[in-house]
Amino acid sequence: HQQNLDFTRVWIPDPEEVWKGAEIIKDYKEGDPVLHLKLEDETTLEYQVGPNQNPLPFLRNPDILVGENDLTALSYLHEPAVLHNLRVRFLESNHIYTYCGIVLVAINPYEPLQIYGEEVINAYSGQNMGDMDPHIFAVAEEAYKQMARDERNQSIIVSGESGAGKTVSAKYAMRFFATVGGSSTDTSVEEKVLASSPIMEAIGNAKTTRNDNSSRFGKYIQIGFSRHYHIIGANMRTYLLEKSRVVFQAEEERNYHIFYQLCASASLPEFQDLGLTSAEDFTYTSLGENIFIEGVNDAEDFCKTREAFTLLGIKDSSQSSIFRIVASILHLGNIQICSERDGESCHILSFCKLLGVELQQMEHWLCHRKLVTASETYVKSMGAKQAVNARDALAKHIYARLFDWIVEHINKALHTSSKQHSFIGVLDIYGFETFEVNSFEQFCINYANEKLQQQFNSHVFKLEQEEYMKELIPWTLIDFHDNQPCIDLIEARLGILDLLDEECKVPKGTDQNWAQKLYKQHSNSAHFQKPRMSNISFIVIHFADKVEYQCDGFLEKNRDTVYEEQINILKASQVGTRILLSFHSDEEQICCEESPNPNMKGWNRCSSPSWWIS
Ligand SMILES: Nc1ncnc2c1ncn2[C@@H]1O[C@H](COP(=O)(O)OP(=O)(O)O)[C@@H](O)[C@H]1O
Ligand SMILES: *[C@@H]1O[C@H](CO)[C@@H](O)[C@H](O)[C@H]1NC(C)=O
Ligand SMILES: *[C@@H]1O[C@H](CO)[C@@H](O)[C@H](O)[C@H]1NC(C)=O
Ligand SMILES: *[C@@H]1O[C@H](CO)[C@@H](O)[C@H](O)[C@H]1NC(C)=O
Ligand SMILES: [Mg+2]
Repeated sequence: HQQNLDFTRVWIPDPEEVWKGAEIIKDYKEGDPVLHLKLEDETTLEYQVGPNQNPLPFLRNPDILVGENDLTALSYLHEPAVLHNLRVRFLESNHIYTYCGIVLVAINPYEPLQIYGEEVINAYSGQNMGDMDPHIFAVAEEAYKQMARDERNQSIIVSGESGAGKTVSAKYAMRFFATVGGSSTDTSVEEKVLASSPIMEAIGNAKTTRNDNSSRFGKYIQIGFSRHYHIIGANMRTYLLEKSRVVFQAEEERNYHIFYQLCASASLPEFQDLGLTSAEDFTYTSLGENIFIEGVNDAEDFCKTREAFTLLGIKDSSQSSIFRIVASILHLGNIQICSERDGESCHILSFCKLLGVELQQMEHWLCHRKLVTASETYVKSMGAKQAVNARDALAKHIYARLFDWIVEHINKALHTSSKQHSFIGVLDIYGFETFEVNSFEQFCINYANEKLQQQFNSHVFKLEQEEYMKELIPWTLIDFHDNQPCIDLIEARLGILDLLDEECKVPKGTDQNWAQKLYKQHSNSAHFQKPRMSNISFIVIHFADKVEYQCDGFLEKNRDTVYEEQINILKASQVGTRILLSFHSDEEQICCEESPNPNMKGWNRCSSPSWWIS
């Protein structure tokens, strides 16, 4: 602050442009209450500065530095400097990629660019990261090279808010590995690895108001390499599918693509017995009130999904079971419960026929619940609302089972029996998101992103700084934004999750009571707020944004109860049993042991010791 600020250029906050450039036109001495500025449109402004509320504005970088392909080359590195540099590169030179040290920053161009062809892959292959224009292929090449040269396994983490371009970037990274790590003898392995994408997008992606192709699950793919660094197989792990979407979509949103793909192909001869019509006719596909996505042809995409299934060696008979199950979910959603059923009975019939369940049993289950007490078991009929909830719970359960089964089979198809020498992992999760109404799903997604951001911080700042200090390189410590306090608010003892779990155990626990406990416990927390106008929602100040969550439904979704009756229906099924129950009988069941770490309450250790899944 001692430096001579006259004729220096600064950035001032602006409600519309976010940051606006300005020039200081009068000498400023420490303690002066105003700064005399001239804006770019030549108007002048007396800008209030004070020791407490209005700090001195950020300094602009000299023009000569702007447009650098590595942000760390800038003299001043702060939000306006970063944004301005990225903007200049994008608008003036059409560059979407910029480095920030070892991190690649990508801007979503929202239009196809001719920078991902095979010739570009070949151009990046074997090059040094610093010698080439920033590119996702340069990052992939760096991982490949370090794996081979340093004999170290690698991982690429893709992060960013929903719609930022994570899944597209992850796909390009995988395409790079498939090309440079292609085996000369067996080309089908890398093709199979790439074929997993359209399948996962069909069953795990959906249109939201932020992204037409939004991933509603997280995935981590490990590509396995031989000692000659050729791809020999792959393995995928998925995280927390948004099950609620199967039975509910907000306006202008859609269910998972696969439902619309199948409906768009309903007239094909092989699907006559599915009893499907337009997606508009089914409750579960029409709640968003728009079944179309501009520029997307669901029938064509369905062909790609089927081709990918076939390429991965999923047998025709299994594929037809998959489609039967998808169709059965749509019929299930159209079943009118415990009211007059005239005209609607065709859907319960279709459901029973498709899954091979007895009609009587199904009718009974849909309207009755078994209650087990210490001394006896009795059967009670449910109210209409309860029954609708139970029906929706069954639909969600079936879809989640189907999803897991498909993932398991993709993994079988990508599995290699030969010894894996090394691997490169690619993590692509659901991005930070905030909607008009935010619920348990957004809370989990944003919590995951908060953890990922911490990983990023610790990697980029903490580790980097330790490295500099070890090497005795002069370096001023960057005061980075540590998000540990926000993570503590969520996961520490008596944190949001802890109180939620507690409330789920209380016999008469409710979303309202939980909200009151949150207010009581966290009203003084810097990252927590009670909204002024509501007593059933709470605000978390995340690293990326402030988000208001509606408490409604949190307890139910957190409990995620699967009723015995649901399982019994599926057990009775003649068709889907293999798929829908495989996880109960299979020795491949993966979750077995609960984490001993109090911070990972509710997480389970899986067969491979390095993995914890929730
Ligand atoms: N590199 C890119 N080039 C062109 N379009 C892109 C690129 N990255 C993203 N997009 C566009 O943005 C959309 C959203 O990207 P996606 O990867 O699905 O976002 P995220 O996974 O971060 O939510 C894509 O469907 C595509 O239309
Ligand atoms: C979403 O992904 C699928 C599969 O890759 C693709 O066919 C479709 O065009 C994508 N949709 C959009 C809107 O980008
Ligand atoms: C890399 O992962 C493989 C398993 O895929 C393992 O056998 C190997 O020891 C790992 N290498 C290092 C250096 O950790
Ligand atoms: C929350 O607000 C509603 C209406 O404003 C009120 O009826 C209810 O009693 C309040 N609940 C609590 C726990 O304060
Ligand atoms: Mg995505």
